[in-house]
Parts: sequence; C-alpha cells; structure tokens
Amino acid sequence: MKILGIESSCDETAAAVIEGNGQGQIRVISNVISSQIDIHKQYGGIVPEVAAREHVLNILPVINQALSQAKIHHCFSPLTKGRCPKGRGVLDAIAVTVGPGLVTSLQVGVETAKSLAYTWNLPGVAVNHIEGHIYAGLANKFPVSDIQFPVIILTVSGGHTLLVLMRGWGKYETIGATRDDAAGEAFDKAAQALGLGFPGGPAIAQAAEKFDIRKSTFDISLPRPMIDSKDFDFSFSGLKTALIYAIKDDPNFKFQISNYSHEFQEAVVDVLVTKLVKATEAYNAKTVMLTGGVSANARLRQVLSETVKQELPDAKLLIPDLKYTTDNAAMIATAGYFHAFKKDFTPWQDLKAQPNLELG
Ligand code: KG4
Ligand code: ZN
Repeated sequence: MKILGIESSCDETAAAVIEGNGQGQIRVISNVISSQIDIHKQYGGIVPEVAAREHVLNILPVINQALSQAKIHHCFSPLTKGRCPKGRGVLDAIAVTVGPGLVTSLQVGVETAKSLAYTWNLPGVAVNHIEGHIYAGLANKFPVSDIQFPVIILTVSGGHTLLVLMRGWGKYETIGATRDDAAGEAFDKAAQALGLGFPGGPAIAQAAEKFDIRKSTFDISLPRPMIDSKDFDFSFSGLKTALIYAIKDDPNFKFQISNYSHEFQEAVVDVLVTKLVKATEAYNAKTVMLTGGVSANARLRQVLSETVKQELPDAKLLIPDLKYTTDNAAMIATAGYFHAFKKDFTPWQDLKAQPNLELG
C-alpha cells in the first residue's frame, strides 16, 4: 500500500510517499521538505500569515517532487487528464495533517489534500501531527510487529512537550505535559535572549558544543524545574526566566555564551531524561520513544541512550533518524498507513483543519 503524506501545520511544507508491505515494514520512498526557516529568521519566530502564504506557493511543487521521486509521474500528467489511476504502483490514499497547528497553515495542506483526493478519487486519511511525530520513529525501521507494549513516548517539539503512554496501536493516554512553554519553545526563547537567532534549538546546541570548562571563568547553575515532582508534568518557563535574569546580572555574558548555552541544554536534558525514565519505570514500559524536533538534539540523544542502557536494560529505545525528527511528511504518511490499514479513512468532504486537535 502506497500513501502520499502532506504536512503544513507550521513552517515546513512537506510531502512524502511511503510504502507499507502489510507485514508492518514501512519504507520511505520520497521525503521532500521546503523549509521557511530563512524567511522567519528575520522576524525571530514564525509569523502565521507569512507561513500560510509560503505554503500556498510551495505545496504543489513539493507534492509534485515527492511523487516524481517516487516515480508516480502520471498524477500530474496532462496525458491522464489529472487523474491518478488506482492500482499497483500507484497511490492508495492521501494522508494529511489536520491538527494541531496554525490554522491558516493547516488549511493549505488540508485543502490541497481534499482537492487531490477528489480529483484522483482516493480516500483521505486525517492525521494528528503529534501522532505523526510518534510514527516518525518507525519510518524505515524494522517490522513494527517487533514493538512491544506498553510504549512510553516523549514528544518534544516547538509546540509540544508530552509524555504519552501507548498500550496498543492507536491507544494513546497523555500522562504528562508541559504546564507552560514547550521544550523547543524554551530553546527558541533562550536562544533569543542569548542573541543566537532562530530556531533556537540547533543554535544553542552548536554554542554549547564550544563550551570549554577550562575557559569558563565561573560556574553557571540553572534550575531543573519539576525534576522531582511526583507527576509527569514539565515546566520550562521558569528555566527561561532564570537564564534571562542570570544574563541581566552578568555584564560579561557575551563572553560566556557557550557556558550559558551548555548549562541551559544540560538543564533541559536532565529534566526530560529523568521524567522519561521515571515514566518508563512507573508503567513498566517495554519500549521507550523520543520524538519531535527537540529529539534532533545530539546531547539529549546521547544522554538518553546511555541512561536507558544503564537504568532500563530491558527496554528498547527508539529514536527517529535525524531527518524524521523535525516536521516532515514521511511521519504523516507512516501514521496514515496505520489508519489506512484499518480502513480508517476520512472522505474528502470531512477533512477539516483542527488547530486544537488533541491526541487520542
Ligand atoms: O517538531 P518541530 O519541527 O516543529 C513543531 O512541531 O513544533 O520542532 C521544532 C522545534 C524548535 O523549537 C527547534 O528549536 C527545536 O525543535 N529543535 C531543536 C533542535 N533542532 C530543532 N532543539 C534542540 N536541539 C536541536 N538540535
Ligand atoms: Zn512537529
């Protein structure tokens, strides 16, 4: 079964084609992303109106490229008069992110998916963006039948920080969430305070790499909010404020950017890893997953891998390949495949952008 995935919930316009073999093995055939980062950089963050306009410009070229790379040329060919014939080697469904996200951005992907599903007479699949991030860990990996439940998933992105318990395919229970800023949002705001630009995660990670303890003139110590709380919730707003105050009190902070970046990153990683391990133990989870844009962070990947090896030797850790960590459509198509396999389709008339969509 071949699925076209479309993603436009935030600032990446993306399309991908994946193929599932019915035995739980998912192969990514094409994965095209048009990023708007360079455009939003000048504003220091994502401007929704600008994002939507860019999606409108990019969405058809991106889909066309994803189909061409998957050797599905005839969908847009004048020879087939815009029809995409069903059958072997051709598409079986169109999966699209319907939420959560920026409403005007979502609408571009959803309306395009509707038009294509109508024109090509293909079933639509409505995909939750967070669910997409969860399935990113399965794209191009082993047969998904190897996954053992329960699974604990930490989804950390610019918009979300969620701990999710999955007792079976499609059965999600949110056991923890941020009470204020998402982890990625905290990285973005911290980077802004440090004058490192947007997006903040990669900028802070890069600056932190330059940290050299021998060259730092003093110790910087930031809080680890809620690290010992009994629940599985998070809070990153206080950490960001602590950083801003520390900088304010430090006339020489410009010479300590790598020191501040290092400590900020360590604080976020400490909290995320500690909570993920606690949740895994509490629910006796057999599989641990880390997903979302922040899962691109090398230090987080390293500390989590080492900690799981030492403290959870019976659990299997799944982290997406780097290219599937930040927003992409391969993850949407992969999640869509699971819905399509169960014949959980949405007719084009019912595909609708849902900016506040929740998981489950
Ligand atoms: O998943 P994503 O692409 O979009 C949302 O769904 O929000 O995540 C984007 C977020 C941004 O906040 C960005 O700063 C963060 O992921 N991010 C990182 C890294 N790469 C991206 N955070 C920490 N370290 C990174 N290497
Ligand atoms: Zn995302």
